[in-house]
Amino acid sequence: MNSITIQPAVSVKGEITVPGDKSISHRSIMLGAIAHGVTTVRGFLRGEDNMSTMHAFRAMGVDIADDGATIQITGRGLHGLKEPGDVLDCGNSGTTIRLITGLLSGQSFFSVVTGDQYLRKRPMKRVVEPLSRMGARISGRNGGTLAPLAIHGGGLKGINYQSPVSSAQIKSSIMLAGLYAEGETIVTEPSLSRDHSERMFRYFGASLDVLSNGVSVRGGVELTGREVSVPGDISSAAFFIVAALIAPHSELLIRNVGVNPSRTGVIDILQAMGGDITLVDPRELSGEPVADILVRSSRLKGIEISGSVVPRAIDEFPAICVAAARAEGVTTIRDARELRVKETDRITAMAVNLRQLGICVTETEDGMDISGSEQLLGGVVDSCGDHRIAMSMSVAALVAASAITVSDIGCVATSFPTFFPLLAEVATK
Ligand code: S3P
Repeated sequence: MNSITIQPAVSVKGEITVPGDKSISHRSIMLGAIAHGVTTVRGFLRGEDNMSTMHAFRAMGVDIADDGATIQITGRGLHGLKEPGDVLDCGNSGTTIRLITGLLSGQSFFSVVTGDQYLRKRPMKRVVEPLSRMGARISGRNGGTLAPLAIHGGGLKGINYQSPVSSAQIKSSIMLAGLYAEGETIVTEPSLSRDHSERMFRYFGASLDVLSNGVSVRGGVELTGREVSVPGDISSAAFFIVAALIAPHSELLIRNVGVNPSRTGVIDILQAMGGDITLVDPRELSGEPVADILVRSSRLKGIEISGSVVPRAIDEFPAICVAAARAEGVTTIRDARELRVKETDRITAMAVNLRQLGICVTETEDGMDISGSEQLLGGVVDSCGDHRIAMSMSVAALVAASAITVSDIGCVATSFPTFFPLLAEVATK
């Protein structure tokens, strides 16, 4: 297993771009594949997760060309996908497996989806149950709650589903099935999760209404291929935002980052902690808000984080935990139970790793309390096979008393293949 040793840095400086947004990249392939006409995607993230989505659609007969700069998807229309000849391997990607299960529920053919050792432990009942209510026949391990899942799709009817969790994967999976369902499909959630599906469905011509607490999709409406420009992923930018905040004498400009309000919880949280973060030149790209983000070193203080900001920052908690470890006072995180079912249990993984660096952390069922410190110790920490744990601990290393070795870093390629060279470029030693 690969590991990396990162030395403390004097400062974090420069001007960078981060790779394309993972969520938008997945959705561009999926909608492009079932639209009529050609979809051209610029800024597509070529991480392992998105490549899993691309391979799955190629396996269903979709022509997807990649010239290195743009991806060109020749759409086959709502009913043009072919039965795959083999199991569709979604690798480590929760978004691929959950969204594709919704889409496959609408197909009149048989398919099987699976993933790696981590994905096969992640909960699938959250999509299997509503999709079964729509009429899909889905079976899987552990009473149909774990992958591999076998799907006999077709004959769907719209439902009104109140999701117990705020999850864009659940919402999007049902929305994709809703494109194939008779009548209207409504999904509501406790508070808004990322709304990239809503925006892209509309951009591709789906018939959709955004409700105060959810979305309604009408079935049977064909989509039209579009040009999609994918902005930089704020979840990837988050590691560099935290790096520049906690490292002394730092100033970093991150260009062309997606700042969709359903994703900017991390900025709200870090600003509330005292972070000097400015959004420069806000604009719009393919129906998504974009800006440049300017970050300067800041003295952070501990805050309470709970409620509706949590789903708006759900992937950024590992990075936020590192900021909290350097803040003055205690940071309290609550209502974040979902962190326990990500690529790993991110509450336990961050608690264990931060304690390794001498930080006092108390776990609760739905969050944690982190007592910040001026001093982080060096040492050895483990990614637990989770890309975001690996990257957040690498950022912590920039301000530790001595070097930190992060083990099992291959997982970083799922979302941010160029992370380590980019970190080395901006971190002055
Ligand atoms: C995603 C939704 C989130 C997020 C994941 C990407 C998406 O998952 O954690 O990285 O693209 O829809 P949940 O819907 O499970 O919260």
